[in-house]
Amino acid sequence: MSTNTQTETASLQLPDQTIELPITVGTENEHGVDISKLRAQTSYITSDDGYGNTGSCQSKICFINGEKGILRYRGIPIEQVAEHSTFVETAWLLIFGELPTKDQLEGFSAQLTEHQFLHEGLRHHFEGFPATAHPMATLSAMINAVSCYHPDVLDVDAGEEAFMSAAARLISKVRTIAAMAYQNSIGQAMIYPKPDLDYCSNFLHMMFSQPNKDYDLDPDIVKALNQIFILHADHEQNCSTSTVRMVGSSRANLFASCSAGVCALWGPLHGGANVAVLDMLGHISDNNIDMKDYVERVKKKEVKLMGFGHRVYKNFDPRATILKKAADKILPNLGVKDPLLDMARRMEEIALEDSYFKDRNLYPNVDFYSGIIMRAMGIPVSMFTVMFAIGRMPGWIAHWKELHDDPKARIYRPRQIYTGYTERDYVPMDKR
Ligand code: CMC
Repeated sequence: MSTNTQTETASLQLPDQTIELPITVGTENEHGVDISKLRAQTSYITSDDGYGNTGSCQSKICFINGEKGILRYRGIPIEQVAEHSTFVETAWLLIFGELPTKDQLEGFSAQLTEHQFLHEGLRHHFEGFPATAHPMATLSAMINAVSCYHPDVLDVDAGEEAFMSAAARLISKVRTIAAMAYQNSIGQAMIYPKPDLDYCSNFLHMMFSQPNKDYDLDPDIVKALNQIFILHADHEQNCSTSTVRMVGSSRANLFASCSAGVCALWGPLHGGANVAVLDMLGHISDNNIDMKDYVERVKKKEVKLMGFGHRVYKNFDPRATILKKAADKILPNLGVKDPLLDMARRMEEIALEDSYFKDRNLYPNVDFYSGIIMRAMGIPVSMFTVMFAIGRMPGWIAHWKELHDDPKARIYRPRQIYTGYTERDYVPMDKR
């Protein structure tokens, strides 16, 4: 692996001058024009609404080639990670850059177990939330609240060991908080984690056990949950990860930064899309809408086809391919026959044959099938985006660490092209 080089330049011809800009080349031969000195040299800035053409940082964590449908974590194809790894191992890979040794993995797992309980004071916070609280609101608030009980995590420069402990605490507690938020939302007693269970089994236990009866763990469901978390674990500079980096760039602590990531993830154009897909399919089914008619409405831009399209993938989202296969396998194994899965397949067929979708390179994304699988596992729709957040946590932590460890990192502070009023006088109230 070679580091980026800056040998070529690009000429930028402005009305009053021409300047040379260095070209940055990444390890996968991606080219970028380095404009970091542009304003200082010319007083111009660039304008890129939605940042579709802007590289906000250099990163070694995740590689996506949207044209070819490639996704790799630290160089390893997502297909291999999803097939062979566990979520905990993937978390280590993303955060520390290499697959863990046996000792490292055991040590990390032990740390996750050590931190799985919430401080009793934190448990009482749940009583303050109404049962109707959205679990994403609860999750974001509770992640920040954790730092009130563990003030040591506020010191962002406490060293590698302290960082590891904060990261393990966050990955472990987010699972406990999520399950407790769910139990709270259905008015049931909170179920405590069990130290002898692995990460995903423990989550299922906390979600579905009753005070008098333990949930029956099915290895197929545990494997599927590992896969879902792994597939969500990182996706380079998406909206929530960029938010985490943005907040972290002010040297805010890991918990504050990741809590902001949860809020960014919540929206239906990002992590909330998995809920929107199920809502859409449910709406079509409940109202007996012909799917072709629905697609016509999409084409007229009256509605969006949720779970389709992606800023980066202009080919199949490889995560959707893996999840589609997983849905085909898991649902029959669980004895689940879900009419919404058949609808999803049919919807995909209709859309992929249509020139509207072909011309715009709109394919199913990760959210199109993840909801169907989570539904089959018994996870309620209100928890879908929370599941995404648990999965994305290692990615957010990895990006926070990468930024924090970069001695050249600066606070993120974009500029703007101002289009408001030019200077004018204040008008007193009696003259308006
Ligand atoms: N249904 C119908 N038309 C669409 C869709 C869609 N889902 N997505 C994009 N388009 C159209 C869009 O209207 C535009 O058409 P035109 O060229 O005629 O103006 C064209 O395709 C290009 O789309 P865009 O809006 O420029 O794309 P974007 O990169 O700004 O937005 C997106 C990406 C994911 C927000 C968008 O595709 C979308 O809203 N999809 C539905 C929501 C969704 O499934 N989100 C989950 C994304 S994957 C999980 C994650 O990483 O967050």
